[in-house]
Amino acid sequence: MFPFDQPTPTAFYLVLYLGTLLLHVVPMNYVLAGSSYLALLGVWETARGQVSEPHRAIAAGLRDWMPFALSIAITAGVAPLLFLQVLYKEPFYTANLLLLHRWMAILPILIVAFYLLYLQKSKRFVARPAAVRMLVSVGIFCCFGFVAWSWTENHLLSTRGQEVWIEQYTQGGWFYGDWELPARLALWWVGAFPMLAMILAWQVPAARASLVRLALVALAASAVAGVVYFLQIPAAARSQIVSRGWPYLTLGLLGGAGQAAVWTLAWRVRELTAGLLAGLSAAAVLAALGVTVLRELRRLSAIDITAYYDQHAEAAGVGGWWLFVLLLLMNAGLIAWVIRIACRPAAEPNPQKANSATE
Ligand code: HEM
Repeated sequence: MFPFDQPTPTAFYLVLYLGTLLLHVVPMNYVLAGSSYLALLGVWETARGQVSEPHRAIAAGLRDWMPFALSIAITAGVAPLLFLQVLYKEPFYTANLLLLHRWMAILPILIVAFYLLYLQKSKRFVARPAAVRMLVSVGIFCCFGFVAWSWTENHLLSTRGQEVWIEQYTQGGWFYGDWELPARLALWWVGAFPMLAMILAWQVPAARASLVRLALVALAASAVAGVVYFLQIPAAARSQIVSRGWPYLTLGLLGGAGQAAVWTLAWRVRELTAGLLAGLSAAAVLAALGVTVLRELRRLSAIDITAYYDQHAEAAGVGGWWLFVLLLLMNAGLIAWVIRIACRPAAEPNPQKANSATE
């Protein structure tokens, strides 16, 4: 089964790449869909006045967590970026070089987005007129939209091969327009919302009833976007996805259906218990895993990975294996420890200390 049907070094890098990419996809979904939600809310508030209490609670939660989520999305993007370079050195670097300044613009755009996120979180910002708040929220969404578009554009260019690369080079354009881009980007964008709804259900329990509608609409829209994209890609890619990727296709479909079932149940009984929430989270992560692996099979239908087998074997033979395992275990342990500390209930305030502080 893919990726274990590959030679050991290639399978090793593919597993690490796909596993770490999944870690990027979860916070990236939160940031992309969350910024869209805030931008839409900003436009709505400017045109029609204040929204209902649950939506205000969701917006407050998003504004509060967004800078943190962005830092996780960026940090979690580094590991797959490294494995990607080992796996697809030539296509990846070629696409980077052809897009050059346009590609590197991701960095300043992310810095601007970070600053705007902190501005959006500040108390002063909340006191500003609705139109000003809307402009900032729309600005943040544009930044993330640009970054998502850039990753899709770069990815597609990397899979297109010599002829397209030469054409892109001779034309010298800053952008790469590709027939597959709109449907693919739309799928990433729409598909980010069910994950956002799941995370928000943990984060803002008071708004769960409103999240049901968002989640169900987003799941239906993701299914439509998935079918449109699937029908748009070449027949060879479709058959690769079905024949080699059926376990992941099943996983993705089960994950989507599982989320729809939990949200529908929550809507009927008007409650989302901790057990249901855990099931919802597992379904969302399984769906993301399925999509992440299918995405790779789409790439493999365009790139001949066998041409890079020797490079993978060479990279795996360089050494540092034990150091890698040691650092992996050390960092996993540290992360688990930090999560345990963060999950501890907050300490009761000490009245004596509080009194002495007031004195
Ligand atoms: C918060 C801003 C970001 C957004 C919205 C975002 C969005 C995306 C999207 C939509 C894709 C999928 C592209 C496709 O399959 O068509 C993607 C892939 C990826 N992203 Fe991010 N990304 C962000 C930041 C980053 C950063 C800062 C890094 C690196 C440090 C990163 C690393 C990656 C990697 C390695 C991939 C896989 C690319 C490939 O396999 O061709 N991302 N990202």
